[in-house]
This record gives sequence, C-alpha cells and structure tokens, in this order.
Amino acid sequence: MRRKPKAAAYAEEFMVRLNVNGAIREIDAEPDTPLLWAIREQIGLTGTKYGCGVAACGACTVHVDGVPTRSCAFPVSDFKPEQKIVTIEGLSADSSHAVQRAWAELDVPQCGYCQSGQILAAVALLKEFPRPTDAQIDEAMTNICRCGTYNRIRAAVKRASELSAG
Ligand code: FES
Ligand code: FES
Repeated sequence: MRRKPKAAAYAEEFMVRLNVNGAIREIDAEPDTPLLWAIREQIGLTGTKYGCGVAACGACTVHVDGVPTRSCAFPVSDFKPEQKIVTIEGLSADSSHAVQRAWAELDVPQCGYCQSGQILAAVALLKEFPRPTDAQIDEAMTNICRCGTYNRIRAAVKRASELSAG
C-alpha cells in the first residue's frame, strides 16, 4: 500500500492563518511552533528578534490586538485570524510613528538587537499612559538591553509622548 507523501499531509493538517500587519498569512507549521518562528522563518519578517526563548528578554515582542506579547512563548495554535498581530515592520510604512521618530532623534540604539521589542513595548505604554511617569516607564519597559540603553529609552519615551501630543 502506498502512503500519502508526508509533506502534503502536513500542509493540510497544520495550515495556520495569522493576521500579520493587516494581511492574512497562511503558513504550514506544527501547532506548537512558536509564533516568533512563524513570523521570522515562514513569513520572513526578521525585525522581530530571538533573544532568550523563555519570555524573559522581550526581544521577540510583537503586538497582539495592541497588547505587547513575547512571541517566543506562544504557539501558533493559540492565535486566530481575527487577532491582529503587528510587528515592527507594520508599525508604520515609513518609520514615521512618533516612537520611531523619537528613537531616531535621541539615537537610542547601540547594537539595535533589542530595539524592535523596546519600541513596541513603548508604543503600548504610551497608548495606556500618554504622559508616563518614570515609575510607569520602569514598570512597563521590562525588555532587556544588553547594551544598557535604558536612560536613552526612558528619554525617548518622554520625547515620543511630546511628539504624539503635537
Ligand atoms: S526571545 Fe522572547 S522574550 Fe526573549
Ligand atoms: S541596543 Fe544592543 S541590546 Fe539593546
């Protein structure tokens, strides 16, 4: 008896539909594949980084319905096409979001590795607290930066708050 080719069976069985940056993406993945790998390897959006793999560093942060989410820690099977996933590439078409402008103005990144996650964490913080205090920034911005850019991050969050206010 001939067996069905494995790849074809998998394609049917593990098709996942994700709404990423406003477009529905259909990918083949096993259900326990971390969202981060689907974003980077299947969809090819490499702005989201792998750091620790255990939800500790925040390098892999994306937004899911506006909530900063550590994409290394959730399998693709947790997500429905109705849930809007936004990566750094989807934040603005031309890097004109107030947080991105503030980051550029204050020259925040050093190596840059953590900064996509930092920016997405800052965007969510400013949505909740448009004029955040130092304590609110410290509480919300738990992403790790191995280059130690924390002082500039805090200043840039405040600058983005000013830019957003017009
Ligand atoms: S890679 Fe996901 S939190 Fe570190
Ligand atoms: S800028 Fe290098 S890790 Fe944050």
